[in-house]
Amino acid sequence: MSGNRTFTMIKPDAVSKSLSGKIIAQIENAGFRIVAMKYTQLSKTDAEAFYSVHRERPFYNSLTGFMSSGPIIAAILEKDNAVEEFRKLIGSTNPEEAAEGTIRQLYAGNIEQNAVHGSDSDENAIIEGSFFFSKLEEY
Ligand code: RTP
Ligand code: MG
Repeated sequence: MSGNRTFTMIKPDAVSKSLSGKIIAQIENAGFRIVAMKYTQLSKTDAEAFYSVHRERPFYNSLTGFMSSGPIIAAILEKDNAVEEFRKLIGSTNPEEAAEGTIRQLYAGNIEQNAVHGSDSDENAIIEGSFFFSKLEEY
């Protein structure tokens, strides 16, 4: 059975371009409820831990440098079939391949600076949400 929660970050590129409000509005308009949210900045070490599944990938150092380069907004979101529905809303990793009207097609600069993160499984949604939020911060 698919779960009803996912985890997202508005990445430093989108936050620095003042796109957070538009992106949060699009997420809410798509029927997601905000369960938890915070504005914060990852250290390089935090970003390396968060993206440790990618540590062998050629883009790991660049990705974690980018993700720690400025503030982000982290959030847990709720909707039926949340992981899959949210990945549909954000579009493909590469904005050039992202479907019309998706968050990445509208706001991403390139394959790395692609505006938003979305969990890729129910299991990772729980792990990633717990990286940023305690149970007392989820409503
Ligand atoms: P995310 O985890 O951030 O939601 O993105 P995703 O599932 O669509 O993509 P993933 O394969 O998990 O990659 C994580 C992030 O790494 C950067 N990336 N750069 N230069 C490259 O070829 C490359 N490929 C991926 C992106 O920021 C991507 O979102
Ligand atoms: Mg991913």
